[in-house]
Formats: sequence, C-alpha cells, structure tokens
Amino acid sequence: CAPKKCNGSLMQPSNMVCDPRDGKPSVESVRKLAKDFIDQYFASMKRRNDSEAHGARLDEVMNSIDSTGTYELTKNELIFGAKTAWRNAPRCIGRIQWNKLHVFDCRKVTSTYEMFEAICSHLKYATNKGNIRSCITFFPPRNDVKTEFRVWNSQLIRYACYRQEDGSLVGDPANLELTELCERLGWKGKGGRFDLLPLLLQANGEDPELYELPSNLVLEVKLRHPDAGQEWLEKMNLKWYAVPAVSNIMLNIGGVEFPGVPFNGWFMGTEIGRDLLDTARYNLILPVAEAMGLNTKKTASLWKDKAILELNIAVLHSFQDDNVTIMDHHVATESFMKHFSNEMKLRGGCPGDWVWLVPPVSGSATPIFHQEILNYTLNPACLYQPDPWHYYKWKDSVMKKRKNKLHFKELARSVLMTSRMMTKAMANRIKATILYASETGKSYAYSKSLQEIFNHAFDAKVVPMDQYDICNLEYEALVLIVTSTFGNGDPPENGEYFFVTKIIYLFGPSIAENTYVIKIYLSGLLFIELKHRKKAETKRRFQSVATATPMSRRVSTKQNSFSNDIQSSTQGVLANVKFAVFGLGSRAYPHFCAFAHAMDTFLGELEGERLMEIGEGDELCGQEESFRRWAQEVFTSACDTFCLREQVNLEDANASLSTSKFERTDFRVVVHDKQVQPNVIKTLGTMHRKKLSSCRLIRRKNLQSEESGYILFSRSTILIQLETKNCENLNFCPGDHLGIYPRNDPDLVKELLSKIRDATDENTVVVLEAKREKRSIIGNLKYWEEDTRLPPCTLNMAFSRYLDITTPPTPQLLKLFSECDVNQEESKRLEVLSQGQSEYEDWKFLNNPNLIEVLNQFPSIQLEAALLLKQLPLLQARYYSISSSPEIFPGEIHCTVSVVTYHTRGGTGPLHHGVCSSYLNSITDDEEVACFVRTAPTFHLPLKDNIPCILVGPGTGIAPFRSFWQQRLAEIRKGAHNGCTMALLFGCRNPNHDHLYKQEVAAAMKEGAISHAYTAFSREKGKPKRYVQNVIMSEIPDFVYDIVHEKKGHFYVCGDVTMATEVNKTLLKILCIKGEMTKEKAQEFINSMKTEERYHEDIFGVTLRTYEVNRSVRLKGKEKSESLSHK
Ligand SMILES: Cc1cc2nc3c(=O)[nH]c(=O)nc-3n(C[C@H](O)[C@H](O)[C@H](O)COP(=O)(O)OP(=O)(O)OC[C@H]3O[C@@H](n4cnc5c(N)ncnc54)[C@H](O)[C@@H]3O)c2cc1C
Ligand SMILES: NC(=O)c1ccc[n+]([C@@H]2O[C@H](COP(=O)([O-])OP(=O)(O)OC[C@H]3O[C@@H](n4cnc5c(N)ncnc54)[C@H](OP(=O)(O)O)[C@@H]3O)[C@@H](O)[C@H]2O)c1
Ligand SMILES: Cc1cc2nc3c(=O)[nH]c(=O)nc-3n(C[C@H](O)[C@H](O)[C@H](O)COP(=O)(O)O)c2cc1C
Repeated sequence: CAPKKCNGSLMQPSNMVCDPRDGKPSVESVRKLAKDFIDQYFASMKRRNDSEAHGARLDEVMNSIDSTGTYELTKNELIFGAKTAWRNAPRCIGRIQWNKLHVFDCRKVTSTYEMFEAICSHLKYATNKGNIRSCITFFPPRNDVKTEFRVWNSQLIRYACYRQEDGSLVGDPANLELTELCERLGWKGKGGRFDLLPLLLQANGEDPELYELPSNLVLEVKLRHPDAGQEWLEKMNLKWYAVPAVSNIMLNIGGVEFPGVPFNGWFMGTEIGRDLLDTARYNLILPVAEAMGLNTKKTASLWKDKAILELNIAVLHSFQDDNVTIMDHHVATESFMKHFSNEMKLRGGCPGDWVWLVPPVSGSATPIFHQEILNYTLNPACLYQPDPWHYYKWKDSVMKKRKNKLHFKELARSVLMTSRMMTKAMANRIKATILYASETGKSYAYSKSLQEIFNHAFDAKVVPMDQYDICNLEYEALVLIVTSTFGNGDPPENGEYFFVTKIIYLFGPSIAENTYVIKIYLSGLLFIELKHRKKAETKRRFQSVATATPMSRRVSTKQNSFSNDIQSSTQGVLANVKFAVFGLGSRAYPHFCAFAHAMDTFLGELEGERLMEIGEGDELCGQEESFRRWAQEVFTSACDTFCLREQVNLEDANASLSTSKFERTDFRVVVHDKQVQPNVIKTLGTMHRKKLSSCRLIRRKNLQSEESGYILFSRSTILIQLETKNCENLNFCPGDHLGIYPRNDPDLVKELLSKIRDATDENTVVVLEAKREKRSIIGNLKYWEEDTRLPPCTLNMAFSRYLDITTPPTPQLLKLFSECDVNQEESKRLEVLSQGQSEYEDWKFLNNPNLIEVLNQFPSIQLEAALLLKQLPLLQARYYSISSSPEIFPGEIHCTVSVVTYHTRGGTGPLHHGVCSSYLNSITDDEEVACFVRTAPTFHLPLKDNIPCILVGPGTGIAPFRSFWQQRLAEIRKGAHNGCTMALLFGCRNPNHDHLYKQEVAAAMKEGAISHAYTAFSREKGKPKRYVQNVIMSEIPDFVYDIVHEKKGHFYVCGDVTMATEVNKTLLKILCIKGEMTKEKAQEFINSMKTEERYHEDIFGVTLRTYEVNRSVRLKGKEKSESLSHK
C-alpha cells in the first residue's frame, strides 16, 4: 500500500510474493532476517541466562551466511520457524492451532521418489482416518533456483480439469493448466469430474516427474443433505477431499527460503462451498439451485444465497457424519477472535487480512466482520511464489514428446511398494524419546525394553532425565516417561533435577530474580516450591499427588478429539507432544508411584496429548507384568497415532519385551594385554556419573549391648567413623546423606566364580569384547571391539565391586539362563519364570534369591562370564544419613548402620546378609571406601536458632539426629546458640539392649543441646508394646501441639516408611483433638507445614518388619487383581 493507494484486495500483493526470478536475496537482508529469527527463537525458549548459547549460535549463523550466503536451521529452529510462520500468516483463520503443527523434516531427500514417499507419509499422518492433524513437510531449502525442490501442484490433493472439444470444462478449472501439463508429460486422466491429479515433483532443479497419488491415501466425503426431502444433492454425485494440503506456498524462515513445504490444516466448510459454487471453479450454483427447485429467474428471490446456504449445510453435515474434521465459519471466526485476543496479550499484536478473514457466507454475522485488524508481514512468513511452469527452463529440449520415466504399471507397483517402505521412512523420521529417572536402575532397564519394542516402528532413544535438554521438550513428537518414586512420594534424584529445571524453563518469566519462594499450583493438583536460600543453594521440595481429576487426565485417543479441540482458546507449551508415563513403585509406600503421577499430570496440564492412561508397576505385585501390558498398549496406541499400525508386525514387536538382545556368540571375555586394573573409585565414578571420594575407616563400634543378642543372632547396629581428610567433595551439612559403593561378600563372589564355566584365574585381568560389523569395499568386515560397560578387571573385581550379584535376576536374565544348555526339566521351569508373571513374582518374593542361589537351584546352567558381565545390573550405592557434625568431628563422617541380616521365606529360609551394611561391618582401616555426599536440603535444621524442633527416630532412625544435636552442641559451646527446644523421641526394643546413644543423649541434654528425650520400648518384659507414635499420642500430645501449632516449630521423622506414616497420622489426630480441627483442616495444616518446610521426612524404605509389611501389601494386591479378573 502507498499513501494514496490500498492493495488490500489484491490476491498477491508484492510484500507477500517471493519470485525467484528477482534473484538471490542480498547477504545483508539474510543476515538481518537471520538475526531477528535467532533472537526470536532464543526468546521463545526463555533461556534468559543462556546468552552464551544464543551468542554462539548467532556467530555460527552469521559466519555461515558470510561464507555461503545462507545457513542451516537446526531441527528445533525449523519446528519453531514453521509454527511461527503459521502464527504470522495474516490470511489464515485457523491460527489458534499454530502450536499444534507436526513437522516432518525431509530436508535430506535427494530424489523425487523420496519426496513422493514423504508426501505419502504426510497424507497418511494428516488424514488419520478423518481425525485430521495439521502437519508440514520440509523439503530442502533453496540454495539456487537451479537446484530447487518443489511440488508443482498447488495442493497435494487436487481434481483434474479437462477441456472438451466445445471449449467447456470438466473437473476443477483451478487445475486446468496443471492437468494439461501432466497430460503433456504422459499422464492420461479418466476424464471425470473428480479425478485425482498425479503429483508433479521436482528434485534438485531437475525436470519434474509424475507420481500417481495412491487413492487409498485420499479420504473423500460424499456430499448429502441432512434433511429429509433433500435427496437432490445425492443425485448430483458431489464429493470433496478431506485434507486441504497447500503445496505451492513458500516459507521464509529467518532468511532461509523453503519453496517445497506442503502443509495442511483442515477445511472450513465455506471453502468447499466456494470450490463447488464459484464461477471460476465448478460453477455449480445454478445446477444446485435448479435441483433444489428454486426460482432462478429473479435475483431478488435470493436463490443464489439459498443454494449457497444449503450446500454449506450439506458440506458440514457430510463431513461431520463421516467423522471427518471440519469447522463451520462461526466456530472458526470465534476461535480466531480468541486467538486474536491471546496474541494481543502475548505479542501486542496479531497481523490479519480482514478481506480474507471475513467468511464468504454471512460475514456480518461473525465477530471478525466488526473487528478492526491491522495487516502487516512478519518473518517467519508464508509467501506466494509463481507457478514453476512459468519460469522453469526444461532440461529436456523435446519436453513435448517426453514420456514419463515410469510406466504406469510400474507406477502402480511403486505405490504398493511405497506403503511398505513408508514404515521405514516414517520410522526414520519419527523420534520417540524415552526419559527415565531411576534410583536403583530398574526404570533404566524398563526403558531399554521399551526402546526395543518402539524401535520396531520409531527411532527410539533412551535418555536419563538429568541429561535431557529441556529446551527440546516442546519439539518432541513422542515422549515416554519411565520413572520410579523415592523418599515418601518424591522423585529419584535425577528426576528431581529434571523437574526443577523444567519448571524454571517453562515458567521462567514468572520467576523473578530475587524470588524467595516460588509456588506453582496446577489445577490444585501439583505443587512445587523452589526456595533460594543462600545464593548458591536452591532449596526445593516436591509434593506430588497420587490421584488426579478426570478432567486433567483426558486421554486423547477418542475419534475426533481434534475436532473437539478446535475451539480451545489456549495452546499449552506441549500442545504438539504425545506422551505416556509408566511409574515404578511399591504399594508399601503411601504415595504410590507419586512422581510418575506428578509427571503425567504435569505434561497433561501443559496440554501434551496423553496417548494412554498412566501405567503403574508395583514391585510387590506384578510389576513386570504391568509394565509389559502397558508397553504393548502404548506401542499399539503410538502406532495408531502415527499411522504405522498396518505396517508393523505387532507380534514381533511384543515378543521383544520378553527376550533379551544378547547373542552369546557376539560377546567374549579375553585376557587383557595390559595386566593392570584402573582405580576402582575412579571407575565407579565414571560408571555412575558421580564425583566419588575415598575414605578410610577410623573406628567401628557396636551400639547394641551384648544382651541384645548381637553375637548370637547377629543383631547389630554399628557406628562407623570415616576419615575424609577434609576432602572438599565430602563437605556436608547435618541432615545430608553419605552414598557408599559397597563390595559384595567375598564368599559369595568365590562361590559364583566356581560356577562359571570359563572363569579365569583370580588375578588375570580380562576384558569383555563385542562383535561388531563394518562395511568396507571388500564387503562386511567383522571384528571384536572392547565393550565399555566395564573396565579391564579381574572377574573377582567385576563381581565384587561393579556388578550386583544379590538382587534376584530379572525374567529376561532367567530367559538367557534357560538358553545356556540347561536340561529339559530346568529349562521348563526357567521358561515359566522368565514369563515374568505371578509364578516369577511368588518365587522372587518368597526366596529373594541371589544369583548363587539361582545357580544352585538350576545346576545345569552352563554359565559363561561374558553373559554375566554384559547382563548383570550394576552394583548400586546405598545411602546413610550422616550421624555427625563437621564442627564436632572435622575431617570425619559418621554413620549409624543397622547391619541387615534376615532369613528368607519369612524366617525359615537361608540366611541373607545385606551387601553394604555387612561390608561396612567388615571393612578394615586399610580399605578405601568409595563414597559421595548427597545433599538433603529438605532435611536440614532450621536456619534460625530459636525455632523449636521435635525429632522422631526409632531404631536406626536416630542416625541424622546425632548430627543435629552435635551441631547444636557445637553452637552452644561457641556461644552462638543459647539452647532452645529440641525434643528427641526414640524407640527401640529394650532399654538394656538397643537403646542407641543413651549416654550421648544424656550428655547432650546436660549441655542443653537436647531439651527433652522420650523413649518407647516395644519389647520390655512385662510391659505393653510401645512405639514412638504411642508415646506422642499418650504422653506428649499437648507438647507436640504447642510446638507445631503455636510455636511454629519443625517436626522431623526419620527411618521406616510405615512408622513415618503412622507418626503422620498421629500428628493429624492430635491436631484434630487439640486444635479442634476437622480431618481435612488438619491435613491442610500438615500440608502447610510442608510448604513452609516445617515438616521433614528422611525415609530409609520399608526397613521395619520388612517381610510382614511386604507380604500383607502383596496379599492385598493379589486379592484386588483376582477380584478384578473375576469381574
Ligand atoms: C535416604 C536414606 C537414608 C538411609 N540412612 C540409613 C542409616 O542412616 N542407617 C542405616 O542403617 N540405613 C540407612 N538407610 C538404609 C540403607 O541405605 C540400606 O538400605 C541398608 O543399609 C541395607 O543395605 P544393604 O546393602 O546392607 O542391604 P541389601 O543388600 O540392599 O539388602 C536389603 C534388601 O534385603 C531385603 N530384606 C531386608 N530385610 C528383609 C527381610 N526381613 N525379609 C526379606 N527381605 C529382606 C529387602 O529387599 C531389602 O531391600 C538409608 C536409606 C535411605 C534411602
Ligand atoms: N533396607 C533394609 O532392608 C534395611 C535397612 C535398615 C535396617 N533394616 C532392618 O531394620 C532392622 C533394625 O533396624 P532398627 O534397629 O532401625 O530398628 P528395630 O530395632 O528393628 O526397631 C526399632 C523400634 O521400632 C519399632 N517398630 C517396629 N515397627 C514399628 C512401627 N510400624 N512404628 C513404630 N515403631 C515400630 C520396633 O518394635 P518391634 O520390632 O518390637 O515391633 C522397635 O522398637 C533390622 O532388622 C535391619 O535388618 C533393613
Ligand atoms: C527408600 C525408598 C523409598 C521409596 N519410596 C517410594 C514411594 O514413596 N512410593 C512408591 O511408590 N515407591 C517407593 N519406593 C519403591 C521404588 O519406587 C521401587 O523400588 C522402584 O521399583 C525402584 O525403581 P528404580 O530402580 O528405577 O529406582 C521406594 C523405595 C525405597 C528404597
């Protein structure tokens, strides 16, 4: 437009056209667009502090433009660019969906055939049996007109037009030129009104080639009128295609031009009405009016309007009746108004072309008609480009005589082939990201199994959550989450990091620099709090939910859920991400699979599309089975969603879940040429991605009296004092944990070695090698390569320090054992167990068998070292609550360790020793202990010294409290603390046997560090059993109420989860009684204590009465699943 001229009603105003004949854009203009685009991209990621990455990317882009005139967009930039181009398109009314665009990145295609394959995939995905999905396919960008990739058709699906001898036209006149061009290239249409045009595709600037469009990929809707007595329409035999996929528009993303980018949304009904009725198109307005019996003589009878209206009604009705996505112009305009208002808020403007946006029918009845809209162009942009036949210089000088390269019979075959190849093509393109968070490795193992099944149709990758770049999340197509839950409903350590970075990333703008406390409530379901204490420390606490409301748990597998979404006013960050979550947990904990639920809720809240309901695996009941069922279902659902079902052999894929990918002949153990082993601590650090330090034992003391029977019945609790030599990595605060990598029992290792067929000599350093294959000019070369899972080491070292030999083998490992030349009888039993169903569960729970016991039960297994080195899980660290203050014992770390021993089968089976506690009970002062400090900021003492605290810790639960009272002692001795309420509640069996730290507590009381000490004895002769919670309820309810409610004090609980749950319930009761609160109010109060960080838990697991607790949970679980199966 100019001051005295408006171009508002031009079809192609110059600012919306890119004509390659105008020559290449200048380097300056590309630089400008590129800078603006990269700035937009980084701003969109809210990576405010990541200016380094931003700057580096800008440098890289500018350098590339200076040397080549252009640059390559990253995949994420491409996705962002595509969505933004749509968002910026002034003429598009359906832009509310801009964030929900699936991108097929086909920038690497080199031939028209590959383009054809990609278009087939695009159409299949977009059509989705009528539940239309918006998507875009990117072919290579323009370097030069001479190397262009273009689709010559204006839309992927178009009807041909034939000129008759009398000059009249049959078909869609919009496509006359293209039809004639196709005919000149050898295509022969059938001469009908609705013949599908072939695709005319051009690769790398070569002459275009024809491809017949597979009719099975084109969904069409036959038009009929909803009202009785309106059969005239059916008689007219009209139809239209379902997917409007524009293919002649160019995208300019930050100065990079993409001339070949077919994309689609879905129809607004009036578009089809115009296609059929406009004079320049099918021109059916008169025939329709006549068929309707209207008086067409007088314009004032409004016969045209009536015909238009009835046809529009019929179009909407027919599509809806066939379950094919379509919008009516009222919904479309209203959704646009919502989008417009969102954009005004978010971006301060929304470019719009009023002339285009007002629908051709009943314009003034829609809100856009009455809205003033500014029209302007933004980059990324969708631009018009001239039809290629207007400027293309044919290479084939006799183009007129030219025949299509493919014969039509061949074409038919190629179409058939295509559907087979499409699986491959799609698999190459659709990425599935499997994110896991795990504390002891099970979720990782499950993620690997999931990868196996997903690789049958997708390009699946397994990534630990803490190594995942959160910025990629919104650009993912498919995200699968496998996570366990730890603490008391908390994420595993690597999950917590993910969750927090994610929140910071996604909610970045709302987090002010100096924010002290940040709380985020998501529909009241999830609450997270971040608290910056000292500058360097981020305090965070996480409270998850085990249930969520049905609304937030919408599963989007319903037919036409997309149509239902059309009107949605907001698009969450993850609008385009399909996801599913599997949680591992144990029902022995009150917050079963809570972190998995929190993740599921969270992704749903951000508008991710849930492929399936969350799966839950209870380690006490059917975890393996639940996982397999879920994995199979989610795989099927993903295949359906991405239209891969027909091409995938589901049986083969499912079978991969119960087989382990280990070929005995592909691995071998060989003597290492250098007979040296790397340092164990360094190796463990690398293996587990942890900074480990070494400590030495200073002293070990048994804390139980001899009467406790620790000699006779091996019942002992030990105080371990380790020397840290003030190693910086081992700095800690009272309340933190020490992680220790143990060593397996030497006797067990010895016995295991004796059972391995090819075990090498005890001192021989060996290495595991894997067979690899490489292509070369002389064919495929096979060679052996060192497997990096384990370092070169002796077998003794591998089984002592690196591998877990005591956790019961997984079904997959049992399956591999069954293939080790076992006899028939054992093979049968192993086969049953390896199904991972109830037989396996019962066997595992009853016997808790270690590897040696399994080998004893199946003596015919011919075991080779390579299998174990490759398949056994890694030996994991154990955590201990640090039991000393660095101020009282500088350079030392103390732990209070209960030495785990138990008889399996509820006390009647063989004796088992806990790996790490027994190791700590046996180390000598010349052994290096591999350890690291894990900070537990949610279990620290209050920052202010005048806040009263109650500490509840029966048995070994007293461990961290020793560090607390020592810390107070140190402060009192320095005069920095004048003593304030610190009440300790301890429970044990008998005052004379296991009253841990009795004297130390008495001494701390004398000095004023501990103000009150209460004890509960459970096995005192002649007295009733008392637990800590009984003491709280019966002896000190007023005291507890006063501290937690009136004095706003802190409440700490440490140890077993059942005990912690019962203590929690007791506090709830006290609040109800003393505070006259309802149960809900009391619960709210406890929640608020958690929010204020006044309620702290340090959970060891199910440690008290392990067998009984687990057994009763298992029985309940079994009863439940039996009653469900009866139903
Ligand atoms: C945050 C945290 C802090 C901790 N702090 C301490 C602490 O300060 N002091 C302390 O002593 N421990 C503490 N623990 C527990 C500790 O980490 C180890 O779990 C414990 O020492 C046992 O490890 P282990 O290697 O000796 O036993 P493992 O070899 O790991 O064997 C333990 C396993 O044996 C099985 N089991 C145990 N008892 C029975 C039974 N009766 N019947 C059947 N099966 C059974 C269970 O499967 C159990 O998981 C803490 C745990 C956590 C998570
Ligand atoms: N990961 C592990 O498997 C693991 C880790 C650490 C410790 N443990 C095991 O835990 C045991 C020793 O631990 P410990 O010394 O800390 O404790 P403990 O001496 O067994 O128990 C301490 C006190 O807590 C009581 N208690 C039991 N159930 C309770 C409940 N639900 N609520 C409140 N109090 C309860 C006990 O009573 P009663 O027993 O008399 O009922 C006892 O008085 C050993 O058996 C050890 O093997 C296992
Ligand atoms: C200390 C501890 C705390 C746990 N807390 C929970 C919990 O709160 N909720 C739950 O469902 N499972 C809980 N579990 C069970 C684990 O989630 C379960 O063992 C899971 O299979 C571990 O998977 P991973 O190896 O991937 O970490 C806990 C286990 C331990 C040892």
